[in-house]
Amino acid sequence: MNGSMKEHWDEIYAVLDADDLTWYEEIPEPSIKLVSMCHINIDESILDVGAGASTFIDYLIIQGFKNIIATDISEIALNKLKERLGEEKASLVRWIVDDITQPIHIQNLREISVWHDRAVLHFLLEEKQQQQYLSTLNKVIRKGGYVIIAAFSLEGAKKCSGLNIKNYDQNILAKFLGEDFSLLEYFDYTHYMPSGDPRPYIYTLFQKK
Ligand SMILES: C[S@@+](CC[C@H](N)C(=O)[O-])C[C@H]1O[C@@H](n2cnc3c(N)ncnc32)[C@H](O)[C@@H]1O
Repeated sequence: MNGSMKEHWDEIYAVLDADDLTWYEEIPEPSIKLVSMCHINIDESILDVGAGASTFIDYLIIQGFKNIIATDISEIALNKLKERLGEEKASLVRWIVDDITQPIHIQNLREISVWHDRAVLHFLLEEKQQQQYLSTLNKVIRKGGYVIIAAFSLEGAKKCSGLNIKNYDQNILAKFLGEDFSLLEYFDYTHYMPSGDPRPYIYTLFQKK
């Protein structure tokens, strides 16, 4: 695990309340829209990569999904999310502390139906990190499975939480995932931070052939 990155994220989640984070969403509407387009049944697996303290997990539980996996480099982030959910709901989720750029546990998963990443890939600046992300994704996602990736768009910010990011559009993401994935849907979406300032994102939905 990348110790300095883990420290960075642990520190942020230790200091700030979840709803003060610049990426906090009360209702993760664009992710909900894309999950609903996957038409999967409630027994199928959904992996939220870099889940943080995201309300996306709350949504999946409310929808009745029974195979939810939340993973993040920061144990503090996942503990905050568990705490908010409470013991009963938290027990419905599989929790994995792991680094997507040096995975130990995630790469053993298989037959994942939906890979969901909001605002994680764009932090991976090194080619090696991006390739490790891609190789893990390819290993764990089932044939016909879906990939939802949301990242800062080309018009978006160049930094987040003090870190440089890489900006994306649907074409860059399609090229990154390669020919085994079909782009089913994409849209621009402006997220408003708690300060009220806009953060433009690109949301994409791919399917593995
Ligand atoms: C901007 S936050 C987004 C959190 C969540 N997806 C959301 O939409 O609220 C980025 C998240 O990615 C996690 N993260 C960053 N680098 C990571 C890595 N290498 N492996 C796993 N998680 C990582 C951070 O801890 C943080 O929770």
